[in-house]
Amino acid sequence: MRIAVASDHGGYVLKEFIKARLEARGIETLDLGTGSEESVDYPLFGRACGEAVASGRADGGVACCGTGIGISIAANKVKGVRCAVCANVEMAELARRHNDANVIALGGRILSEAEAAAIVDAWLDAEFEAGGRHSRRVAMLDGM
Ligand code: RB5
Repeated sequence: MRIAVASDHGGYVLKEFIKARLEARGIETLDLGTGSEESVDYPLFGRACGEAVASGRADGGVACCGTGIGISIAANKVKGVRCAVCANVEMAELARRHNDANVIALGGRILSEAEAAAIVDAWLDAEFEAGGRHSRRVAMLDGM
């Protein structure tokens, strides 16, 4: 499995932490930047993360900015991306189980490292409840 990671300056420290955590779990990462806390524009990095997932270069993505909001909006502009801002473990589990989120967005100014690690683990470990209403709704999203 390969997970794309991307951030702006507001999510840079968290992105580096998550990258190390993923690699410690034996998961390959595709780091799309940014590379420091110098100010950059989150739409560029959200789009890059979304494109990596939509193209199949990565199996999923974790995108970080200050709140998770801006970078999630950018990732969701890419067709085929279902990016969910996750502020706690329940949101991460349900983002996978109900929405089959292929990217999650985290806020470096919102979450502690421990909270973010638990969120990423919950998203990775949960499974989409395929069939029935959830598959129908995800297909509707993908058709938009
Ligand atoms: C950057 O200052 C900040 O606006 C950005 O990281 C993010 O929080 C936007 O949604």
